[in-house]
Amino acid sequence: MADNPHHSDKHRPAPSDHLSEIDRAAYGDDSIHRIHQQLGREKEEPTEGFSQIPIVLLFLFGALVFWGGIYIANHSAEFRYDIYDPDWKPGFGGDQTAAAWDPIKKGDRLFKNNCAACHQAEGQGVPGVFPPLAGSPYVVGSEDRLVKILLRGLSGPIDVLGTEYNGNMPSYGENGLGWDDRDIHAITTYVRQAFGNEAPPITEETVARVRGEIASKSTAWSADELLSAHPLE
Ligand code: HEC
Repeated sequence: MADNPHHSDKHRPAPSDHLSEIDRAAYGDDSIHRIHQQLGREKEEPTEGFSQIPIVLLFLFGALVFWGGIYIANHSAEFRYDIYDPDWKPGFGGDQTAAAWDPIKKGDRLFKNNCAACHQAEGQGVPGVFPPLAGSPYVVGSEDRLVKILLRGLSGPIDVLGTEYNGNMPSYGENGLGWDDRDIHAITTYVRQAFGNEAPPITEETVARVRGEIASKSTAWSADELLSAHPLE
C-alpha cells in the first residue's frame, strides 16, 4: 500500500463532513506519508561555499604536520650550511680542485654558437659559399695563420681544397667580437681536433704572441696577404 498510494486512494471516499474523525485522520496520515515520500526522493538543494572538511582528513593532516615537525627537529642539524651545501666536500672545500678547464669543451660550445651557422655543424661548409674547416689546410696548417684569421677576419677570393670562395669571415679580435686569448686558444684548438682533423692544440701563449705581432693591423686579411707570410704547407 505504501508503494502505491494512488491505488489505495481510489477506494477511499473523498473527505467530507460525514466521515468519522478516525477516517479523516487516516486520510491525513496517508497523504502526509505520500508527500514525505516525494520529498525524500528529492535531492538536497545545491549550496554555495565550502563543505566542511571531513574530520578524518583533519586528523590525518594534523598527524602529518606533527610527524613533519619531529622529522625536522631530528634531522635538520640546526640547518648548518656546511651540512646542506650540495657542493660541500670534506674539509670545508679546502681540497676541492677547480674543475679542469677543457679547451675542447669550451671550443665546442663556442663553435656551435658562433661558427656552425656558416661553416656547418660538421665543419663541412657550404660549397662555394662557406669554406670547409674539415681537412682545410688553413685549419690544420700554420698555427699563426689560423690565429690571424680568427683575430682579424678574412675577405676576398680564397681557394680552399680546390673550391673558390669570395666572402667575408667576421673578426673575433679587437676589430670584431673581441674574444680573449683563452677563447681563441679554445676555438682554434677545437677546430684543429674536430671533424676528423688531427693537429696539435694552439696555446694561449701563441695567441697572445700573434695578437701582439699584428697589433697595428685593423682590417681583415686577404688570402694573398696571409699566404705571402705563411705559404700553404
Ligand atoms: C658569417 C659567416 C661566418 C662565420 C660566423 C664564421 N666564418 Fe669562417 N669563414 C667564412 C667565410 C665566408 C670564409 C671565407 C672568406 C673569404 O672568402 O675570404 C671563412 C673562412 C674561414 C677560415 C679559412 C678558410 C677555411 O675554410 O679553412 C677559417 C679557418 C674559418 N673561417 C674559421 C672560422 C671559425 C673558427 C669561426 C667561428 C669562431 C668562423 N670561421 C665563423 C664565414 C664565416
